Amino acid sequence: AKKIILDTDPGIDDAMAILFAEAHPDIELMALTTVFGNATIENGTRNALYLKQRFKMTADIAQGASQPLVRDPVGPTEVVHGVTGLGDFHVPDDFVGHPDPRPAYQYIIDTVKAYPHEITLVAVGPLTNFALALQAAPEIAQLVAQVVIMGGAFGENDHRGNVTPYAEANIHDDPHAADIVFCAPWPVTIIGLDVTEESFFSAHYLEQLRNDAADVGEFIFDISRYYLRFYSEKVGLNGCHVHDPSAIAYVINSALFTTRKGPVRVVCDGAASGMTLQKLDQRRYQTDEWSSMPAQAVGISVDAAQLLDLYRKTI
Ligand code: BDR
Ligand code: CA
Repeated sequence: AKKIILDTDPGIDDAMAILFAEAHPDIELMALTTVFGNATIENGTRNALYLKQRFKMTADIAQGASQPLVRDPVGPTEVVHGVTGLGDFHVPDDFVGHPDPRPAYQYIIDTVKAYPHEITLVAVGPLTNFALALQAAPEIAQLVAQVVIMGGAFGENDHRGNVTPYAEANIHDDPHAADIVFCAPWPVTIIGLDVTEESFFSAHYLEQLRNDAADVGEFIFDISRYYLRFYSEKVGLNGCHVHDPSAIAYVINSALFTTRKGPVRVVCDGAASGMTLQKLDQRRYQTDEWSSMPAQAVGISVDAAQLLDLYRKTI
């Protein structure tokens, strides 16, 4: 099984991704490292600790960054994920969890070094923890197996963002961190919004999951009620896109996706802050800082029917 550290801001679709990774036999979920984003860092970490206890996970939980590296902090996305991050579901008041004493970036560094070339780092939230780990220990870039990111958007103009017309939430919330992660000399695959929006959990699909998958299916159904209200009121859809579980699907079966390679950078300032750009052609330019950059893989399409099937069977 692939050893993965899943960096997450749980988060409704984050929880869907966590339970997917936990359930699949080809994945050994070593840890959840938390980051601000959908919820405050305190609530996100509490949600992760609760999932660990409720679903008897062996993963460590390490709390990470509470705010972005450089830009002004953006508050939790209450309108999408609810006040504490899991929609109408609230972790019981008397619940007490036990996180690893180390901050997430240190946990990542230690674990990558303890298992050289074995760890797959997956991020489904802002990339602050990965950037902090690279800054403190750049040598980890040579020691990970691969890095898989849900974030950014590389499609046509109207499919380039969900926070602004040109920025997807995970990159929008810490563009400087994302730029550091994409420019580092390690192999990154980025599954952006235009690809995650190809897969759709319909209301019916989620009902079936509840009926077929006992406690896990029921939990996913329960937390998705709030998310589906957001989708129906603000997006006009009866169901939800499959953002974070798509990154896990890539780890399990990369053949479900087609990708293309080229350096990727992030706009860090101004109205288009958080926009992701990939250079594809080989022509030279007058100032070509990009030619020395690592070519990263960017998802361009997915077999959505197979992805939905893989998720259902796994859960
Ligand atoms: C991403 O933003 C968050 O709201 C989701 O959890 C997902 O990681 C989608 O843009
Ligand atoms: Ca997320």
